Amino acid sequence: MDSVEKRKALRKSPFLEWCNAEGLAVIAGYGVEDLRTVPLTYWERLGGPAAYCHLEGSQGFVGALAAEIPPGKSLRPIRHLYEEQILILEGRGATQFWSDSSNQAVTLEWQAGSLFSPPLNTRHQHFNGSATEPVRFVAVNNIPLMFNVFKSADFIFNMPFEFTNRFAGQKDFFSSEFKPSELEDTSVNFIPDVYAVQLDYHPERGIGFSRLGIHLSGNSMVGHIMAIESGTYKKAHRHHAGAQVIVLSGKGYSLMWPPGGDFVRVDWRKGSLLVPPEGWYHHHFTTSREAARHLALRRGLRGVGMPWLATVSEHEGGHMLEHEDEPPEIRAMYEAELTKEGIPLRMKPIERPK
Ligand SMILES: [Fe+2]
Repeated sequence: MDSVEKRKALRKSPFLEWCNAEGLAVIAGYGVEDLRTVPLTYWERLGGPAAYCHLEGSQGFVGALAAEIPPGKSLRPIRHLYEEQILILEGRGATQFWSDSSNQAVTLEWQAGSLFSPPLNTRHQHFNGSATEPVRFVAVNNIPLMFNVFKSADFIFNMPFEFTNRFAGQKDFFSSEFKPSELEDTSVNFIPDVYAVQLDYHPERGIGFSRLGIHLSGNSMVGHIMAIESGTYKKAHRHHAGAQVIVLSGKGYSLMWPPGGDFVRVDWRKGSLLVPPEGWYHHHFTTSREAARHLALRRGLRGVGMPWLATVSEHEGGHMLEHEDEPPEIRAMYEAELTKEGIPLRMKPIERPK
């Protein structure tokens, strides 16, 4: 490829060009150490401090807006033609939602650990419930995907269309009852406390691994909460771009690498964010005495792009790596990290075929 063609192919996306023009700070790289303390700058459209995390693995699909509601304040009322799941990192408050077809607002109260999703294009406004403490939240959304298609902020933020098949002002919309879902294990529109959610044990994906799939507000995006016990790590797998992994508790690190390429290591603790790039293997390793708990919010879009079989072993034609197929330095590195922390390994030795 000549350099002009190469420059053209590697140009910034319409979304990232818009962030520049809009004055919305962008964070790049492979990980964010702590979403609770990452520096924010005032974003006029939101009416509060914010920064957009568009990490390597976002790849134009999904990213994470870190934002704050100052003490005693509210953000601007907003509606947007992209899906968004909001995790409250710190503080407490409420959000009001209006449907054009109902004249009464629906109010949802929340606090640190709460997760909810403003239904697509519903008008809403966030309020801080404390006069002295800020609210910090992270909103995982697919604005990169939507903006890269429409390339118009006016269309994304000022379109009056109502998706009444998703939300039509129902008073009980933000129910915290888990119901069976076609897209994931469960559908639920409000999780008051992500730390309290019971997970299902999945040893086939790693001894000490538990998870519960979640689907909020009729989105195309999906997610899951997962836990990885102390002294264990999850089997590596590969899948599509854009899964935003937010660390809820525990400490550890992840290794990510493209097939045949070098490891990228991201260390994490409560408040960290990482995003494995499309098709890269990734492992999550717990090095704390407590289990690690993560919230992963993902692109979804079933049937779009290559069908990754992230939970099926490579031995069966899928994209999950069995321990015996891991690069040998992975286990050695983990054992050394556990020794440093004084944590026992709780995994069987790897038996590699001779
Ligand atoms: Fe993954």
